[in-house]
Amino acid sequence: MRLHKIFFLFVFQIVMLIVRADEGMWLPQLLEQLNEKKMKAMGMKINARDIYNINKGSLKDAIVSFGGFCTGEVISQQGLILTNHHCGFDAIQNHTTLERNYIRDGFWAKTHAEELPNPGLFVTFIIRIEDVTKQVLKDVTGSMTEKERQSIIEKNSAACKMAVKKESYQNCFIRSFFEGNRYYLFVTEQYNDIRLVGAPPGSIGNFGKDSDNWMWPRHTGDFSLFRIYAGKDNKPANYSPDNVPYVPKKSLSISLAGVKEGDFTMVLGFPGRTTQYLPAAAVEQIVHVNDPVKIAIRDRVLSIIDQYMRKDEQIKIQYASKYAGISNAWKKWKGEVMGLTSTNAVQKKKQYEAEFLKRVRAHGVWNEQYGHLLEQLEKQYHEWEYYSYARDVFNETISRIEIFTMAAQYHSLVTAYEQNGQKGYEAKLPEVKIRIDELLKEWNLQVDRSLFHSLISFLRMDRRMEFLQPVWTRFSANDTSMVTLDQLVYGVPVLSDTVLAKNNGFVSADGKTAIEAIKKDSVYQLYLSLIQTYSRVIVPSFTEYQGVINRLQRMYMEAQMEVMKDKVFYPDANNTFRVTYGKVKGYHPRDGVEYGFYTCLDGVMEKYKPGDYEFDVSPKLQELYRKKDYGVYGVKGKLPVCFIAMNHTTGGNSGSPALDANGNLIGLNFDRVWEGTMSDIYYDPSICRNVMADIRYILFVIDKLANAGHLIKEMRLIPNK
Ligand code: ARG
Ligand code: ASP
Repeated sequence: MRLHKIFFLFVFQIVMLIVRADEGMWLPQLLEQLNEKKMKAMGMKINARDIYNINKGSLKDAIVSFGGFCTGEVISQQGLILTNHHCGFDAIQNHTTLERNYIRDGFWAKTHAEELPNPGLFVTFIIRIEDVTKQVLKDVTGSMTEKERQSIIEKNSAACKMAVKKESYQNCFIRSFFEGNRYYLFVTEQYNDIRLVGAPPGSIGNFGKDSDNWMWPRHTGDFSLFRIYAGKDNKPANYSPDNVPYVPKKSLSISLAGVKEGDFTMVLGFPGRTTQYLPAAAVEQIVHVNDPVKIAIRDRVLSIIDQYMRKDEQIKIQYASKYAGISNAWKKWKGEVMGLTSTNAVQKKKQYEAEFLKRVRAHGVWNEQYGHLLEQLEKQYHEWEYYSYARDVFNETISRIEIFTMAAQYHSLVTAYEQNGQKGYEAKLPEVKIRIDELLKEWNLQVDRSLFHSLISFLRMDRRMEFLQPVWTRFSANDTSMVTLDQLVYGVPVLSDTVLAKNNGFVSADGKTAIEAIKKDSVYQLYLSLIQTYSRVIVPSFTEYQGVINRLQRMYMEAQMEVMKDKVFYPDANNTFRVTYGKVKGYHPRDGVEYGFYTCLDGVMEKYKPGDYEFDVSPKLQELYRKKDYGVYGVKGKLPVCFIAMNHTTGGNSGSPALDANGNLIGLNFDRVWEGTMSDIYYDPSICRNVMADIRYILFVIDKLANAGHLIKEMRLIPNK
């Protein structure tokens, strides 16, 4: 009896390791084959073909990659797009001044003419996905070096792209999946005239700011609205006042019915990057080495920027977007370390590896092919550790000192001149000027100077960064204080001086004069010396190990798919279109704590702190709350705000639609819960949840708060019976 029980437990554990419900970011073109049955069993009422169909309009035709970093969805036949407030934030910030503060007050275009263009912003539709693995891997053999392999793949890919059937206004690209074991080609359409239509005030769109970011319970109305404009022929066109609202192949219907616990949901979008198939050794490194040092550096950065932002309204606007970005990853990494630790991810990966090895050992051919894979991977990761640490530290510090970012721009001029003389210089110059102006708009000398002090001190104190010592010796002699370096960079050097004077006169029309001046500049020299030293000492080994690791990871992936036949694999996120599904569900993060699956406006009022920069609530929203004036969006005197479910999402899924069993829009994905941010590396169904704004809250804000009923009229609402 006992033995039976133990055996059962053992088998159960292995099965749990292999099939974890809800996990996975699935390829739309394979849904029918791999997922449809399970999705229907979980409650889905539509077919896989309603999601992805290349012969007629399907749900995928309503979903766009928003600017390449987020997701958006078409919600009207006039090209209206819904995405997150934090995805549209750059656009909102660009139109914001001290007088017209759209970040603080929100923005609503009353007519099409008032919608605001955003140069550089684009959205991309996926027209079709094709498996081109055979063509891309033609003539590739196992005995090739990575370089040989790469060059054949590039050649084959180019041929594939040449051969593909597409319209002149369409694009195509090929991406690698399963660590280079499969290749898919995407035919896409990109629209470049994207205008801002509406954004709620920051106190709604970013309610709770960084304190609430990555947290549940959540009360943020994290949405904004844009519109796609097309040429008169409805085809992609660059910005023109003559462009017209785009008429989509498909737009989403919106359901007001809301969700119950256990309901089926799915999220369609463009997840950015995950690493689900790392060996335990690599996960251990993330937990103990890389994440901690990146967190420590950002601790410094954030506390410095925060000090200045609190004191100065101008700096607050300038640094808002930057600060949010830096803080976002910082907090995510903290959650990641916590989640990987609390779920024993390393231990569980080891168990999985043991099972993999056991099966490999029991099989002659596998044993020969894969018997040493894990061992080798582990060894490579260990040897790589120093270089990967140095790289993280170097990037995290140097990229935060923006006087260096500007120096990098000047460096690109030097390179252009050295490669192509005056002609190359002239070609590069306009781009550099634009970039420097952009940088300066969101730059403050004192903030940069403080960051420089703190981060350079960090580099100088870190034993593992000692390889930079020759740089410090060269530029500050034996001065161990920061005085010499500070004077060198922020005293009266040419670079920062002219940058500050904002005349860019430094960059004269004559390449020769300009390059001579740049090369004499002390900031430029310091920057170059840092980059060159790093490139000499760290980069070569880093790249070499990376190559070996890539190769081993590719083999390990192939091996897992062959050996662990009982598991259905999904490829790591790589910024391509995916479908994830899971049920609405609360969670139990730690002893004695149980979280419900949704929040209401009452919770906003509970968090309300008058005048606070994170938790203020506008008088208008308070009034609507007092009167319970929720229109058709409320339920029995309550207004739903956010909910969570078990969809497996990651960065890039922000702005993704949450759809119900019928494929109707019920929410807008914008985050995950803190305990579960390790889902990029290890998904655990007990604590991994995605966070969505309830569509009824979004519609309420548009309708009741912004009085933008004309936008609601554009949409297709399914009334709540
Ligand atoms: N954590 C979410 C995501 O990774 C939302 C970030 C935006 N919000 C913020 N307060 N920074 O992007
Ligand atoms: N907030 C993320 C995004 O911007 C989504 C996530 O990481 O869950 O894409």
